Amino acid sequence: MTQCADAAGSTTDSAVPPIDRCKVNGRKDILDTVTSDDHVSRENRPRTMHRRSFLLSLSAIGLAATACSGWHGRRGRLRILMLGGTNFVGPHLVQAALGRGHQVTLFNRGRTNPHLFPEVEKLRGDRYPDRGEGPGALDTPRTWDAVIDTWQEAPGCVDLTARMFAPRAERYVYISSIATYRGFRDIGITEGSPMIEAAGRVGSFDSELGYRTRKRAGEQAAEGHLGDRATVLRCTSIGGRNFSADANEHASYWATRFLAAEPLIVPDDPGAVVQLIDVKDMARFAIDAIEKSLGGAYNVVGPEQPLSLRDYVRTWSEATSGRSPIVWVTPAFLAQQGVRPFDDIPSWIPESDSEPGFYRISNARARRDGLTFRPLASTLHDEIAGLGDPASLRTPGGMSREKERELIESWQRMGG
Ligand SMILES: NC(=O)c1ccc[n+]([C@@H]2O[C@H](COP(=O)([O-])OP(=O)(O)OC[C@H]3O[C@@H](n4cnc5c(N)ncnc54)[C@H](OP(=O)(O)O)[C@@H]3O)[C@@H](O)[C@H]2O)c1
Repeated sequence: MTQCADAAGSTTDSAVPPIDRCKVNGRKDILDTVTSDDHVSRENRPRTMHRRSFLLSLSAIGLAATACSGWHGRRGRLRILMLGGTNFVGPHLVQAALGRGHQVTLFNRGRTNPHLFPEVEKLRGDRYPDRGEGPGALDTPRTWDAVIDTWQEAPGCVDLTARMFAPRAERYVYISSIATYRGFRDIGITEGSPMIEAAGRVGSFDSELGYRTRKRAGEQAAEGHLGDRATVLRCTSIGGRNFSADANEHASYWATRFLAAEPLIVPDDPGAVVQLIDVKDMARFAIDAIEKSLGGAYNVVGPEQPLSLRDYVRTWSEATSGRSPIVWVTPAFLAQQGVRPFDDIPSWIPESDSEPGFYRISNARARRDGLTFRPLASTLHDEIAGLGDPASLRTPGGMSREKERELIESWQRMGG
């Protein structure tokens, strides 16, 4: 299972408590980013902003301050700059914006799924000022009604663009994560709950920073430069369709298990609940936030009503036509066998867990401001539709198939 870098305790984030619940539902999530530290080599990561780019940014700010003297309001066709936009979450944000008739421009390097959105304007460059063309294509007096940023690497990149667009964009929407909360002992975490301390990392390009610190510092960069014109969407595990060519590489634990046509183990734990957000619901809310000028932080967490682990798993079973029989086992048996909730069986957090609040985060603010939820079955059908050949699915974690088969045999030997 992919681990949160902070949890591994090997990062420089000493201020971050060692919470290991930065992985959700066993799908790429908060935790994608752990791997992002892996696939960008240290020596390639700039630690300081390139001086020329920095000066260019400052000059553009000066030029743009005049250009931005009046916004045309948030009604009608808005000009939205999408930083990124072509991996998992981004395409849904782009689609949601285009679906409302807005004009979208993408900024990225043109490497990830470059075939997407042929009709949309594309600016090319790199978020890192010292790589490739750097962010120079953004460094113009052009103004925007909103910038959407999905960045999850060095927070210095968010700091740079948030500073650049503070005088040139009406709103800056930063896609963040519940991983920015300090801990999950409490039930009903709200947007005012204690956060990770990352203020000293806002402009950092330090490749050692863990995911949670990077995301929190990214939030603070956006808020610091745009104040209440920043909108921070703290998402829990995001479900739904992945348009990426490598979607099979990031399939969720449950998709992998339920599509395998083999018996699978599920804890029969009536008190366990699960939270996730459909990527389309998140994207719709992000565009709402732009249109309605919603500022501040929002927990973007579903579903509307508490979802038990039992119902979550049953919905997976229905979505896959029951092709993998469920072997329900008692939590006591799993404890005896040394099976760890969440690490070995993603999505399972027993009620008695030391961090029961991880799946009991409050979405009251977002609901009040218009967040709505698609049925879980639709989310799961979308996820399945984005996957290719089930035989080539790779799950990001959980126990191995061999271990699971052994457990099923032991359970059945005991008469289960
Ligand atoms: N999945 C979950 O369950 C979950 C949960 C909570 C929060 N989140 C958050 O959701 C976000 C998901 O991001 P996503 O990957 O799906 O976003 P995305 O916007 O769809 O894709 C990432 C974009 O970044 C661009 N990019 C990558 N490196 C770049 C660089 N150096 N310079 C310029 N552009 C670059 C990529 O294009 P190029 O490669 O072509 O440049 C791609 O378009 C993350 O911030 C994550 O923290 C996810």
